Amino acid sequence: MDNPGNSYSQALKQIAKTANSALPLRKALNTVAKNTAKAIKAAGCSIMLLNPQKAHLDIIAAHGLSDLYLRKGALNVHKSLPEIMQGKAVAIVDVSQDKRAQYPEAAEMEGICSILGAPLLQKGEVVGEIRIYSHEPKHFSQADKDFLSTVANIVAIALEKSELYRVLKADHEESVTKRRKLTETPKLPSSSLRPSSFSHTSEEEFAKLLDFYRIEWLYEPRSFPLTWQDNKVTEMFTPDFYLPELDLYIELTTLKQSLITQKNRKLRRLKGLYPEVNIKLLNKSDYLRLLAKYGYGPLGETKVEGVNQVLFSHTQIQRRTRALAKRISYNYRGHQLVLIGILKGVVCFMSDLMQHISLPLTVDFMAISYYGSNTEPAVKITKDLDTSIAGLDVLMVEDIVDTGMTLNYVLNHLSSHSPASLRVCTLLDKRVRRLIDVPLDYIGFEIPDEFVVGYGLDYRGEYRNLSFIGALNPELIEKGRRE
Ligand code: PRP
Repeated sequence: MDNPGNSYSQALKQIAKTANSALPLRKALNTVAKNTAKAIKAAGCSIMLLNPQKAHLDIIAAHGLSDLYLRKGALNVHKSLPEIMQGKAVAIVDVSQDKRAQYPEAAEMEGICSILGAPLLQKGEVVGEIRIYSHEPKHFSQADKDFLSTVANIVAIALEKSELYRVLKADHEESVTKRRKLTETPKLPSSSLRPSSFSHTSEEEFAKLLDFYRIEWLYEPRSFPLTWQDNKVTEMFTPDFYLPELDLYIELTTLKQSLITQKNRKLRRLKGLYPEVNIKLLNKSDYLRLLAKYGYGPLGETKVEGVNQVLFSHTQIQRRTRALAKRISYNYRGHQLVLIGILKGVVCFMSDLMQHISLPLTVDFMAISYYGSNTEPAVKITKDLDTSIAGLDVLMVEDIVDTGMTLNYVLNHLSSHSPASLRVCTLLDKRVRRLIDVPLDYIGFEIPDEFVVGYGLDYRGEYRNLSFIGALNPELIEKGRRE
């Protein structure tokens, strides 16, 4: 069995060595963040400094966190784990339930369940914080807290001794001011973030393609310093796009070989200085291939002529499903869970959801059909459960709740079989169309009144095999009604 004391002392040796190395400070701190997360077996780590007014904490180094999470906004020292400012190490087991988490939604989207934080102290005064982020619910031990506090001390000394500290701070404050302007807008892309013109038509075309797929994008949001002389930046690189959802920078290329060589050189340097940054050099023919890799189309290959726009990409669905599964795994720990789905729309969601639930569970399916008139519709069961649910914890899984009629009927039916508990998880909630009020415990996305297809959902039996969820062209539905 692992001896945590041993692995922590090994990790501290490595962290002290990195902090005391000749590496540029920011790079050294990113490596410290990486080794700290690895030692605690956590998903990520951030190192933050207090701003001069001592009101906010800004991230200066990080590991394992998406750019979207890093851009969520500065942390208010009074709202976010305020005890750390009093010099204490603080642990949060379930971020979604704890008022001391300032951005619980951003944390949920990132899949963060637990946080451990420790203050950076210089001469007894708090100057910043180091935080650890876990994707699994984690009860941090005293050994974990002691380890993180020791790393915090090493970081504080490294900051104090660094000649670059002052420069880094000034540079950081300037970039934070710029970044804040970006983070003030929660939903991207927004018109205020759109450039009035692009430098090249290929960039404009790429932006249109991203818009169709509803992939969030930022145009030239960040410049990376590449070379310095006397603490002054002498060369920078500004990638054309940043896709927060994929945590990916994109640089588009022209066909001029001389420019490609120059860009490749800059890119190699950028990757060396900022190893955590994910960047790709693309030419036009690479667009669709890249997007397909991330689960977007290409459109021509599937039956999607009637789809107006992608509402939720495959990546978005997967991320949300993982976050739901994590909450379910935590809430049902120690229970006998049965997942029940209603055929057929639920197949994709059920398949992905169950794979991310880290508990022993069983699965069953029901099938129903509708009869009656438009004014008095009714539901009947055409396939009932295979096994008894008496005394078990049942979670109904639905792809979409629309009028609520189906779910209401099925919940009544299941309640009569005496389960220990009965809750509902739906990927989509079309609340605006609800006729019967049904309680929903886990919701993937709330959607507007649009006809949605893909990822299991159909129109006249088709479109179920799309990897994303799209909105169907209303004209197609109208035409279908006339036929
Ligand atoms: C969908 C979905 C739900 C139901 C929700 O099934 O799977 O079960 O509609 O609608 P409601 O809230 O208005 O009752 P659908 O009838 O399309 O069959 P399918 O699952 O076979 O596609």
